[in-house]
Amino acid sequence: MQVEINNFKMGYEEAGAGIPIVFIHGYPLDRRIWQPQLAGLAGVGHVLAPDLRGHGESDGMSGPYWMDTFADDLDAFLDEKEIDTPAIFCGLSMGGYVAMSFYRDHAPRVGGLVFAATRANAEDAGGREKRNQAIERAQKDGVGAIVEDMLPKMFSPRTYDERGDLVDWVRTVMLSTPLDTMVNDLAGMRERPDSFATLEQIEIPVLILHGEDDQIMPRSVIDEMQEHIRHARVELIPDAGHLLNLEQPEAFNQAIRDYIEELRSLGIFGQDLEGQEG
Ligand code: MLT
Repeated sequence: MQVEINNFKMGYEEAGAGIPIVFIHGYPLDRRIWQPQLAGLAGVGHVLAPDLRGHGESDGMSGPYWMDTFADDLDAFLDEKEIDTPAIFCGLSMGGYVAMSFYRDHAPRVGGLVFAATRANAEDAGGREKRNQAIERAQKDGVGAIVEDMLPKMFSPRTYDERGDLVDWVRTVMLSTPLDTMVNDLAGMRERPDSFATLEQIEIPVLILHGEDDQIMPRSVIDEMQEHIRHARVELIPDAGHLLNLEQPEAFNQAIRDYIEELRSLGIFGQDLEGQEG
């Protein structure tokens, strides 16, 4: 499915009804990574999985793709879908950077936040240099070179060794990312702002999910986020790496179900949104 927003067509998929839960994919990926969540959480809410601009079935635009631009696209997407109640936003990795930008600019729309395999810091000089090197490598050697560099780090070592079908499927998803999108994402992530001050503004409970064997985001980033959030609960998912929602979908989905229950018990979502089955 597609909707027209901000002068481009955005691809998305949805399932279920009730509390809106918006899943934001990472780099260099698209909404297909949320298939286990679309299937597993449709009974507890209205699951929405958009493709960020340039990804999946969303048109590409001129870049860089700033995290704020992605967030503004999501705001327009929710308008187009006529969702006027607060939603839960779950961002994985780059999707987490977008969720933080979304909170900064559109807080009244946010009823819950799940940060998965992500971090709040801006790039330091070394990080910026790595982004520049990745841009150069993508432009010189193509999308395939970046995908092969990244792929083993996207999973726990065990998943990578033992679950060839999942690894091959993710490779296919990553390889479908256009070169321009990769470059625009990398430039946007290179310039992303520090979000710690934003985290300090958050009043609602936040859920932080992290794979125990994440090879891209070190464990220290969780402590840094937690220190800046008033009410943050961390759940470490065993036997999972960076793509924890694909590696351990049931544990991931159960953590989200429990989180929704927690928000409901605090009265964050109104009665009219409770208990609707998809
Ligand atoms: C992602 O999975 O979205 C990326 O690894 C994030 C990043 O490169 O910072």
